Amino acid sequence: MKKTNVLILFSLLLWGCSQSKNNVEARIDDLLSKMTLKEKIGQMNQLTGTGLSTDMTDCIRSGEVGSILNEVDVKTVNELQRIAVEESRLGIPLIFARDVIHGYKTIFPIPLGQAASWNKELVEEGARIAAKEATSVGIRWTFAPMVDVTRDPRWGRIAESCGEDPYLTSVMGAAMVKGFQGNDLSEPRSMGACAKHFAGYGAAESGKDYNTTWIPEIQLRETFLPPFKAALDAGVASFMCSFNDINGVPSSGNEFLNKQILRNEWKYDGLLVSDWASIQQMISHGVCSDLKDAAKKAANACVDMDMMGFAYISHLEELVKSGEISEKQIDEAVRNILRMKFRLGLFDQPYTKEDTTVFYATESLEKAKQAAIEGTILLKNDNNLLPLNDKIKSVAVIGPLSDAPSDQLGTWVFDGEPERSITPLQAIKDTYGSKLKIIAEKGLNYSREISEDGIKKSVEAAKKSDVVLLFVGEEAILSGEAHCRADISLPGAQSKLLSELKKTGKPVVLIVMAGRPLTIEKEVNQADGVLYAFHGGTMAGPALIDLIFGKAVPSGKLPITIPRMVGQIPIYYSHKMTGRPAENICLIDNIPVGAPQTSLGNTSFHLDAGDSPLFPFGYGLSYTTFEYSKPTLSKNTISEGDSIIVECSIKNTGKLDGKEVVQLYVRDLVGSLARPIRELKGFEKIFIKAGETKKVSFTLKPKYLAFWIADMTKKAEPGKFEVWISNDSQTGVPVKFELK
Ligand code: NOJ
Repeated sequence: MKKTNVLILFSLLLWGCSQSKNNVEARIDDLLSKMTLKEKIGQMNQLTGTGLSTDMTDCIRSGEVGSILNEVDVKTVNELQRIAVEESRLGIPLIFARDVIHGYKTIFPIPLGQAASWNKELVEEGARIAAKEATSVGIRWTFAPMVDVTRDPRWGRIAESCGEDPYLTSVMGAAMVKGFQGNDLSEPRSMGACAKHFAGYGAAESGKDYNTTWIPEIQLRETFLPPFKAALDAGVASFMCSFNDINGVPSSGNEFLNKQILRNEWKYDGLLVSDWASIQQMISHGVCSDLKDAAKKAANACVDMDMMGFAYISHLEELVKSGEISEKQIDEAVRNILRMKFRLGLFDQPYTKEDTTVFYATESLEKAKQAAIEGTILLKNDNNLLPLNDKIKSVAVIGPLSDAPSDQLGTWVFDGEPERSITPLQAIKDTYGSKLKIIAEKGLNYSREISEDGIKKSVEAAKKSDVVLLFVGEEAILSGEAHCRADISLPGAQSKLLSELKKTGKPVVLIVMAGRPLTIEKEVNQADGVLYAFHGGTMAGPALIDLIFGKAVPSGKLPITIPRMVGQIPIYYSHKMTGRPAENICLIDNIPVGAPQTSLGNTSFHLDAGDSPLFPFGYGLSYTTFEYSKPTLSKNTISEGDSIIVECSIKNTGKLDGKEVVQLYVRDLVGSLARPIRELKGFEKIFIKAGETKKVSFTLKPKYLAFWIADMTKKAEPGKFEVWISNDSQTGVPVKFELK
């Protein structure tokens, strides 16, 4: 096509887009001009489903509800929608919402496990599959992705996060948004995503859910907000407030967050929904005297929709009548809500085709398995025990997670069915039942079990086998919302089980299926091989068995640091150097008795844990090995408007083909504020055949070096930097460059 034709086509496309935008805005104006104040406030009310109860149908008819969550029977959904469209005065459709977090029926690994794949295409496909399944019953709005950065594995919701890093979370969150929403939000198989929880929820003090947070503005902007901005840039249809307060101000009443940042700075014109009753909870926070006060604070803070808080429906009308809230404010909120309904195409296609559900399609199960494979991290592999080879004739399958269909699904599974889970035990029997002697003896029935009665039998099983596969971890209920732990070691008698099995002298492969990083230093030391699998979803079993027997090669990398001890938390790779970085570490047992105090040589570490994590962010082994060349730079200085190409060769020096996650880190050596010792700025997951070498290059621009400085502007400061291309956050050869 000629250049001029391309230009004309492009202009026509732009014109078309702005026309349909104007058209939507005109339709919103038209509707608003016809709506009563009551009907407007009704749109701002979100209720949980109660089937076809009279209360609900009456509410819909009188226009007192704008959205319903947790209604998943397609016939009920369609009937409720019919009442809204045909029997309410203005026929405004409802949006049906649900927490579709890591799958609807086909359950993918928990988000933390998906992030461990570092494979954004796979993560996007996972969300696409979830959207296809969920929209087939009428759910057009999911409360995902959760893009809260967190550095506290005690927090139960770490399972639902993409880990500790703002960049990785941004990439994964944006991939999920794209997957849920598809190419066209108005298409019936697309689902509006929701960037939650705005903001700072992952900083809950002591990792206790809903707890208060203290977050300086610089840290808020640098660590917690970027994934939300990335979700917005990816076109996310909605945002949700967080439950916590930041520096004393709950998010649902936080004008700084919702008005100044989200609306004014970021120009967000979509829907902001509260969290469940979070407007009402401003009374418990102690910042509102009553529900009316809470409604006023939330409306002033630009919260458009009240999820199950009954504050708006009960009090907004009187607040407008008394002049405490202007009708213009209400109009703004309703505009955002209607805009989402238009964007979802609900005015044109309000109903869901029945009998077209697409649950557990073969390709979906295959993708879920692939996600579980790529989201599993090989942490240790002494003597190349894994993958198991032909010499292995008998296997003991032990541990509470070896055959726990419900627990392997992880948290946030309302619709997935445990009976569709394939457990590791099932998978090994299906695949190797005729070739191997498989002795299954759980040892413990569930992860928290303290009774050691079953251990003896599992030891007997181990004695009769060539190798022990020990599946340990956490039940699903030990992580997720409001399920936080102060002790994040292996629960129950699992550690004892491992010690007893170890005494048999048989090689032990430890497979950890959990909702968070666990403090398992002792167990890692005892085991011969360790696979960290998180909760892998419906297909966790086949994925793990493929990895264990070498049909698949591990390629997962940690999206979060694994601490040695809980007392190290928060521990994360991108920490500051401090004035006395850790060196000459002298651990507690090496201090001579009666040693006098001295401040000479003092550095920053814990006497009982040292300064290193058990495993760093970005870490993960493979069955093959990769050799990185020293990175080369296209030049050694950059200036504004310029870029540097950083390049590196990676050779697969092992005997197997494999995928590698190539990571790009930078460090600003001297800043006006102390800077992290490394920051992830890019990554690529590549497939390299055995013996082959591949080049990976990244483009570094000054804007990637920018950070928030004391006057609250974001700038890249001239000076010296270091850059690494490496396979985790601690290794690699730094190369210097300068920003002029
Ligand atoms: C509370 C949770 O914090 C939020 O993430 C979820 O989407 C809502 N409940 C709705 O279930």
